[in-house]
Formats: sequence, structure tokens, C-alpha cells
Amino acid sequence: METIYTSDDSLTAYFAYISGENIGLAKAELEVLLNQFSIDKEVTWLRRFARIVMPINPTDFLLKRAALIQYAGIILYKSSSVDDITKGLSDDDWIIHISKQDSFAVKTLCVGNENDMDMRLQIERNLGAHIKQVTGANVNLRNPSIQILVLIMSDGIIVCKSDTSKLRALLRGREPGKKEFFHPSMMNSSLARVMCNLAGVQSGDIVLDPFCGGGGILCEASYIGASVIGIDLSWKLLIGARVNLSKIGLKYSLIQGDAQHLPISSVDRIVSDPPYGRASSTRGTKAIKLIESLLEETNSILQSKGECLCLCSDSEMKLSQIIENAGLTVARQLSMRVHSGLVRDIVTVKI
Ligand SMILES: C[S@@+](CC[C@H](N)C(=O)[O-])C[C@H]1O[C@@H](n2cnc3c(N)ncnc32)[C@H](O)[C@@H]1O
Repeated sequence: METIYTSDDSLTAYFAYISGENIGLAKAELEVLLNQFSIDKEVTWLRRFARIVMPINPTDFLLKRAALIQYAGIILYKSSSVDDITKGLSDDDWIIHISKQDSFAVKTLCVGNENDMDMRLQIERNLGAHIKQVTGANVNLRNPSIQILVLIMSDGIIVCKSDTSKLRALLRGREPGKKEFFHPSMMNSSLARVMCNLAGVQSGDIVLDPFCGGGGILCEASYIGASVIGIDLSWKLLIGARVNLSKIGLKYSLIQGDAQHLPISSVDRIVSDPPYGRASSTRGTKAIKLIESLLEETNSILQSKGECLCLCSDSEMKLSQIIENAGLTVARQLSMRVHSGLVRDIVTVKI
């Protein structure tokens, strides 16, 4: 039995469990978010489970910021078998984590092996009964104040104290079709959030989307706490972006103009999905020319260093190639299948 949690905070291990929609993108999002802590850390992956060793608890930050993390929390202990599942923590340690006034649920997940329903039920029953007996807390499967998440791995069982993402439900509630102003060219909220995270957007930053449309990306940057600037050719979309942004209540500037002549001298991050000429018009300009023109300006406009530019485009555009041809450095290239006819490339640039 390996006890990972101890009262010495520096030895505490945390975890994050990412969603399965796009594992590459979710891993990149987690890693970039953890890089915002300038301290030593170690991340080990087993499929969708990340074991994170660092001296600060990142759980609240990760769940507040990440679009693609489902659960996060602290690892309590590792057990080698179902029979030992109740022996990983002393009674005193259980009482530190769960008080009599709490309600709790034990939830199990199989990671990296077959879904073993019998084993899952046995763990939920045995561990649930043990915690109830030791702590006096009541079981509440629907809305527990504490969730104990048990991850069944091929080489053992990890017992965690876990929180569930609330942001993911919020993001679903602010998808383009649910916003006050809607246009089919708008970026969905989950990808917009991931792109902002990949570009390192932080509260207080100035973030530019030079092709802002109805403001999908700007809204997510704004929810993070950034001041946002949007440029678009279309008055109609800018008016829609204003409707959407005014709901959030943070500072924004919207400018009608051509992104090929940026009227901006300095921002911290650029996050954008230039038009591909499908749902959104380029008014005759070749889509590639719009991207090249933006890339020419980035070094002089961007005040931050590092991965502070994130662009997304139809994979047929070969975005990474355009970036390299412009003499810039691609930091990450990820892709996302939207439907059979559209794969998006999501690329970050290191400035
Ligand atoms: C894919 S949409 C952008 C979606 C938006 N980024 C979002 O987050 O919802 C592309 C936008 O580029 C705008 N556009 C096309 N050519 C432009 C140009 N030369 N300068 C500025 N905006 C342009 C279109 O009007 C369209 O709103």
C-alpha cells in the first residue's frame, strides 16, 4: 500500500481527470495551465488521468479555468487490491477529510482497463460503508458535499478526494446558440476557452481577436478576466459581439475595420480564428493573406513573451506552414475533428 497523501504538504499529490472529447487538446490545456505556477512540478499521465506532484494545490484553479478537465482534487492513497481498499487511510485521517456534517458519495472509474462492474460495485459498497462508519457522515449520491473518486488502474487502485468541474456546465450554457446574439460563424465556448488557455490568457491581460465576429473568443477571454479588443469587417457581427460582451460586464473595445491594417500597438495575447471563407466572408481577400498579414504584425504588437498567440483554422490551410514561412516558431499543433468535412488545426506560436 502506497500512501501518497501525508500531512507534509510538499509530498501531496494531486490529480486531474480530463474529458475524452479530444485527449491531445485536453492534455495541452492542463500542461499550459500548470505552467502558470512557476514552481517545480511533475505530471505523469495514464490515459485521461494526470498525477500531479507540486507544492501548491492547483485544484480550484484548474477547475475554474479548464474547459476539458472533468474532475480534479487530491490523491489520498493507492491500494493494490479491492480487499485492501479500506486500509489506505487511518480513521483519524478520514475524519480530517470528511466531517460528520458532510455528505459523501463514492464514485468509481475504470482507467486503462476493462469496465469491471462487479469490482466497481464492491468498492463503492465497501468503501462507502467504511467511510460512513468512521466519519459518521451520510451518503448522498445525488449531491454530496464530498466526492471520493476511486480510479481503477491496471496496476492498482487510486483513491482521491475529488471536485467536479462546474465550468463545463457553464460553458455548455454559453454555446453560441444560447447567447443573446448568434451567428453560425461564432466559435463554440469550449474551444474558445481552450484557445485562451493555450495562449496563456490571465485576468488583467489585454486580449485581441482581430477577426472577432460575434465574440465567441472575446467572451471567454472576458470571463477569465481579460480586457478584450475585437476587430471585424462586419458591423452586424460587431453589434452582436457588443450584445454578448455587455452581459459579462468587463471592459471591451470593438473596432470596425480590416485586420490587415491593425489600429492597435500593444496587447498581451492574440487569440483568433481567421475566416476560412465558409461560414464567414473574407470580402474577396484570400484567407491565407489575412493570416500572413496578421503574423507580420505579431512581433511588434505582442508585449508578452512565450506562447501568447493561438490561432485556429481549417486544416487545409496548413496553418503551421504559414506560421513557419513567416519566420515564427510553432509551439504546439493540435487538431480537432469538427465533422467529416472539417478538421481544425489549433496552433500556438512562441514569441
Ligand atoms: C470565423 S469568424 C470569427 C469568429 C470569432 N472569432 C468568434 O470567436 O466567434 C471570422 C470573422 O472574420 C471576419 N473578417 C473577414 N475578413 C476580415 C478582415 N479582413 N478583417 C477583419 N475581420 C474580417 C468575418 O466578418 C468573420 O466575422
